[in-house]
Amino acid sequence: MTSPNPGTAMTQDELKALVGRAALDYLEPGQIIGVGTGSTVNCFIDALAQYPGRIAAAVSSSEASTQRLRAHGIPVLDANEVEELAVYIDGADEIDPRGYMIKGGGAALTREKIVAAMARRFVCIADQSKWVQTLGRYPLPVEVIPMAARRLIRQFAALGGEARVRQRDGAPLITDNGQHILDVYGLQITDPPAFESLVNDWPGVVTVGVFAHQRAHVCLLGTPEGVRTIHFATARDDA
Ligand code: A5P
Repeated sequence: MTSPNPGTAMTQDELKALVGRAALDYLEPGQIIGVGTGSTVNCFIDALAQYPGRIAAAVSSSEASTQRLRAHGIPVLDANEVEELAVYIDGADEIDPRGYMIKGGGAALTREKIVAAMARRFVCIADQSKWVQTLGRYPLPVEVIPMAARRLIRQFAALGGEARVRQRDGAPLITDNGQHILDVYGLQITDPPAFESLVNDWPGVVTVGVFAHQRAHVCLLGTPEGVRTIHFATARDDA
């Protein structure tokens, strides 16, 4: 695909639409699939809606995606009704050359990690601005139990990160799970699996937004030249 406006580069939104449509190629008729959250996934859901019956049903990672899927007439199942998912389609805030990701910019990271863990294959859809060599430029989202926030802010400070409670309308944002989000600035995450395991062990952490144990198998990266498909070697051998 080229830009709809000849002579101009594709916008970020156009790149998101491009990879959202490309993800349709990873679906088989009759499958139950996992669906992530965010503006890129919204493009995928809207593309999927143009092919009624293409999938049997979805397990969703957020209230927002559930609403969008149902508005298009796509059945949404509870995760506990499903044994396994063929594929999980989701975006990322950052993805590196090993398929490790930062996720949670939309505050849906806990359900995203659960649904990703249910899937045999994680297909990450992202525009090229998300591609990084080392995770950490994007502030790392961490879902936390509110009473632990202050202590966790100190623990991140000891790692060189500055953690702030995410706000919405002048008050801490409340996630779909009734918890808070810390956004941690200034980290350089050179060993994502070790970092994820370390932070997971801290009392009060619900989910850390590093997806290393649930890393991507494939990334469909939107670039001005089209969709670049990146396969990650032996992904998920540590899952
Ligand atoms: C939602 O919590 C996130 O993990 C999203 O997948 C991520 O923020 C990417 O969102 P966009 O597609 O809106 O950039």
